This record gives sequence, C-alpha cells and structure tokens, in this order.
Amino acid sequence: MATVQFDKATRIYPGAEKPAVDALDIDIADGEFLVLVGPSGCGKSTSLRMLAGLEDVNSGAIRIGDRDVTHLPPKDRDIAMVFQNYALYPHMTVADNMGFALKIAGVPKAEIRKKVEEAAKILDLTQYLDRKPKALSGGQRQRVAMGRAIVREPQVFLMDEPLSNLDAKLRVSTRTQIASLQRRLGITTVYVTHDQVEAMTMGDRVAVLKDGVLQQVDTPRHMYDKPANLFVAGFIGSPAMNLVEVPITDGGVKFGNSVVPVNREAVKAAADKGDRTVTVGVRPEHFEVVGEGGSASSSLSKDSADAPAGLAVSVTVVEETGADAYVYGTVEVGGESKELVVRVDSRAVPEKGSTLHVVPRPGETHVFSTSTGERLSD
Ligand SMILES: Nc1ncnc2c1ncn2[C@@H]1O[C@H](COP(=O)(O)OP(=O)(O)OP(=O)(O)O)[C@@H](O)[C@H]1O
Ligand SMILES: [Mg+2]
Repeated sequence: MATVQFDKATRIYPGAEKPAVDALDIDIADGEFLVLVGPSGCGKSTSLRMLAGLEDVNSGAIRIGDRDVTHLPPKDRDIAMVFQNYALYPHMTVADNMGFALKIAGVPKAEIRKKVEEAAKILDLTQYLDRKPKALSGGQRQRVAMGRAIVREPQVFLMDEPLSNLDAKLRVSTRTQIASLQRRLGITTVYVTHDQVEAMTMGDRVAVLKDGVLQQVDTPRHMYDKPANLFVAGFIGSPAMNLVEVPITDGGVKFGNSVVPVNREAVKAAADKGDRTVTVGVRPEHFEVVGEGGSASSSLSKDSADAPAGLAVSVTVVEETGADAYVYGTVEVGGESKELVVRVDSRAVPEKGSTLHVVPRPGETHVFSTSTGERLSD
C-alpha cells in the first residue's frame, strides 16, 4: 500500500497550445479511494496515464509512497490498471486471463493458481474459472478484468471508466461491489469517471477537473454542501443546482422578493471590484413551497407589503421519479425570465400551468462571484 502524490504534474501534448493537465496537485492517502471526475476532454485519462507512466510528465512530479516515479517505466511503478476497454483474451480461460501478467512475470504455476483462486473467491468468479470470456455476462467480464488487477497485488489500482461498458442497472450494482472490494483490500485507488453520481457514491474524496485544471478536491459531502466555484456547483448534483444572477443590494442579495443573507465582506469585495451582480445558487431540494396559486405569507423580507412572498414559479413540466417530484418552471428575476427546478413532495404535486411560490431555505443558499465564479458565501 502507498500514498500517491501529484505534485504540480503537467502534461502538454506535442503541438498543443495549452496543457491537457495543468499543474495538478493532489495528495492521496494510503488506502484512499480517490475519484477524478469532469466533462469529456478535461484531462482525467491523461492524469491517470501520467500516474501509470503511459504519458510523459512535462513538469512537476509524481510520487508513489516515497518514491519519485516521474520518469520510471510503467512496469516499475507497482500499479495495476483497469481500462474501460478491458479486452480479455478470448481464447484463454478466465483463470488464464487473470493469471496472465503473473505468468509473463515468471511466477511459478502453483503460486499463480493460488492467487487466481483467491481473487476469484473475492470476486465471486470461482465457478467460471474454466470458461472462456464469451460465455460470461458483461458484469462477470468486468470482474475478470478486476481480477487481473487484483492478482498482481499492486500498491495502487488505477481505473479508467471501468463500468462504461455495462448497462445502467449493472453499473449501479458493480460500482457498489468495486467500492466495497476496494475498502476490503485497502489498496489506494485512483478511479476516473465522467459520471458525477458514480464519483459521489464511490469516492472517499472526489477531484473535479475542468479544462485540465483542478477545481476542487473534497469529500462528497463537503463538495455538495460547499462547492468552491460555479463550475463545481453546476456539475455536482442532479438535477443541477439553480444558478441565478441577481443584483447586489444593501444588506445582502436580492433574490425575487427575498433578501438572501450572505457574507457581507465577500459581497463587498465583489462590489469593490466593480461587480454589480452575484450568482446565487439553490439546490432543487432547498426550496420551501410557501404557497400555490395565489399569494402566500412568509416571514421573509418583502419588497412591498402586498407582494406575495418568495419566487413565483410558473410550472411548465413536472417530473415524477416515484420517490421525488421535480417541478420545472420559469420565474421572473430582475425583469428576466429564468428557468428553475424545485423538488416538491411527491404526494403534493402541482398542476402544469399553475404557479408555485417558493423561498430558498435559510442557510441553504450559495453565493458566487459572477465574474470569477469563486464562492463568496461561507
Ligand atoms: N495523445 C494525445 N495527443 C494530443 N492530444 C491529446 C492526446 N490525448 C488526449 N489529448 C487531448 O488532451 C485533452 C484531455 O484528454 P483526456 O483523454 O485526458 O480527457 P478525458 O477527461 O479522459 O476525457 P473523456 O471523458 O472523454 O475520456 C483533450 O483535449 C484531448 O483532446
Ligand atoms: Mg478519458
């Protein structure tokens, strides 16, 4: 087992103008499950491949344990990688597929057999050891690919979208298996996905990348509660956080008829820079429905005494998932029509075309600088 350190690791592909990965700085603890997530092309695979030794590092360093591996070939790094396209050898049995790397390394036959059987037990593959890959389901093949990595007893597991060949249901069960397997084996793991739900459910910590630049590395809970910038706020969470640009006023930030309390110093800093607006974020589940149809009363500060409290959302679509219902609607903010998503009680779903009055729950609003995207609220 080992720690992993990306120390300002940078990769510039030949002929490229800007780095595919720009000064990546992450310290991964021994035994940790770290997930790299971000949109297509943000540099996830490049980061993983630098750690694997499959891609040059143009500046900075990579360490595994206390070894600087920046310029070591892949075979000397003591890592095992599971790719999206795990391509098992079709003419070999499951057992031979799993033991292949050990055979190449000259490990005695009896020892290979022992390790393969142990791994098969962990992965629930014992009864398939003599089969060929084509006689396995997608999920079983994926587990063989995991087995190939496990038998090598590496210091670090690297996985690049290992579940993307599986259908939606199998992905969910397999991601739970991989996460619990990793915890049982305690092997430091770096896992790449573009799926934020996968990232949030599997990782001890999640690192969000955008355009080759690390945006935030944090526990799933903290990332969700305190996204560091607008990009992370919009990327993590489904349906996404509502983000609305609003004018800065005295005493806070005006959002519809409510004044959202915010860190005054932060807003002042934004105003001092010349910003006239900030961007307020509210997750769909953090709205309180204060009335439907007509006006409603609330304790929130109002523009004028007779204006209905909160934001009037005209309901365009209601999406029911069974456990939850999401209202998609439009709202007038600062004379402009904005889209808003609000989670409502699945037992009290409003009609399409009706008006819903909502207020953001106190303490559940996020404020970001419109110009830089940086988080301004605490
Ligand atoms: N061999 C290469 N030569 C030149 N540019 C490359 C090479 N591989 C990747 N890139 C570029 O580097 C950037 C990062 O690519 P990378 O494969 O790391 O993205 P990713 O986050 O893994 O994306 P995806 O989710 O689509 O797999 C992209 O802009 C890509 O076009
Ligand atoms: Mg990739």
